[in-house]
Formats: sequence, C-alpha cells, structure tokens
Amino acid sequence: MNQDAMKKAAAEAAIEYVEPEMIVGIGTGSTANHFIDLLAKIKGKIDGTVASSEASAERLRGHGIPVMDLNQAGDLSLYVDGADESNKHLHLIKGGGGALTREKIVAGASEKFICIADETKLVSVLGKFPLPVEVIPMAQSFVARQLVKFGGTPELRAGFTTDNGNIILDVHNLEIMQPEKLETQINMIPGVVTVGIFAHRPADVLILGGESGVRTITA
Ligand code: A5P
Repeated sequence: MNQDAMKKAAAEAAIEYVEPEMIVGIGTGSTANHFIDLLAKIKGKIDGTVASSEASAERLRGHGIPVMDLNQAGDLSLYVDGADESNKHLHLIKGGGGALTREKIVAGASEKFICIADETKLVSVLGKFPLPVEVIPMAQSFVARQLVKFGGTPELRAGFTTDNGNIILDVHNLEIMQPEKLETQINMIPGVVTVGIFAHRPADVLILGGESGVRTITA
C-alpha cells in the first residue's frame, strides 16, 4: 500500500464520526482532501462545513458542499484534519501546507478533533519535520533571531504567502521534548501569529492508515 492509499484509508475511517446535521470543521492537505472527497458522498447528511483554508473551501464548494463562516457556525462538534507529525500523546506538528493558524482556530472551536494520517507521521519526538511558524512580514528577521535561541534553524518558505497575508518560517533541527512549553514560548514572540505545535489543543483521536490496516489512538 502506498502512502496516499494509507491516507485515504484513514480518511475513510474518519467518515464514521460524521453524524446527521453536523457542521464539520475541515482541515487542509492531501489527507484532508481525501476526507472532503468522501464527505461529498454523504453531503446531504450534514448541515455544512467550516474550512481551515481557501484551498479546502474551494474543494468543498466544487463538490457542492456548503462552506460556512466560523463566526456564523459557532462551536463545532467535529474537526477532521491531517498532520505532519504526531507523538503518542497526540501532540502534533502542523502547517506543512501553511494553513496552521486557521487550523488551530477551527481545532480550538471544535469539541472533537480527529487527526487522520498515514503511519509514517507517528514519531517518538516531534521536530524532525521542520516546524512551521506563521509570522507578520515586518517581524521576519526579529522572529528568526529569537527562534535561533531555541536551537532551531529558521528558513523562510520562499514564494509563499498564507491565506492571512503572512510569511512562514520553517524551523529545522529542533528536538521538541516539551511541546506545550515550546508552543507557549514561540507564541509569545512578538510578530508570531501561530506556531505549528498543537499541544495545548492536541488531537482527541489519531487515525493512522498503515500496511496492516487502520489503527486508532485516543488521547
Ligand atoms: C496543512 O497546513 C497541514 O497542517 C496539513 O495538515 C499537514 O501538512 C498534512 O498534510 P498532508 O495530509 O498532505 O500530509
């Protein structure tokens, strides 16, 4: 089974969590795209969705699935999204697609966060995947200097602007032993919009597609 098939298997398992008349929070990325495509088959069952990116909103609308504004929708019962890395505590690194801020907002507004991924995303220590940090453009150099103090090597994601009009610094060479602490510390740097560590609001359920089928880890 290739990696994409594993992602699709995880997305299929997540469909089971969708209940009638829900407004479903939708993540961003190739795994979330599988979920969107599968959701299209049961779109009559739900009341609508809230998207974590313009790209996901466009894909949802392309399937004729209603996309609502979070301010209109209020709190959500379910959010489904992928991740770049997860540890066994379901602390995540997200933002490989650059949608981390809106993803963190929708995750925060949701009662249950189901993370879907292929099994290669499960790691013992977060940080091999470069940690995305969304930054206000004028603060780029200042924030980069602060990130170096945490032992990382920040690199500007070239030619990329977030849906919020900001830049991304990808921080290489981190070994994140205390995800909650580092999430707080990086979020406190002036100019940082969001760091891609999801530890204060981890996933509630991690569904991993793998060679031997799908397995579920709960927090
Ligand atoms: C998007 O900004 C990310 O947080 C994605 O959830 C993450 O990059 C996973 O992407 P894939 O599903 O494409 O692996």
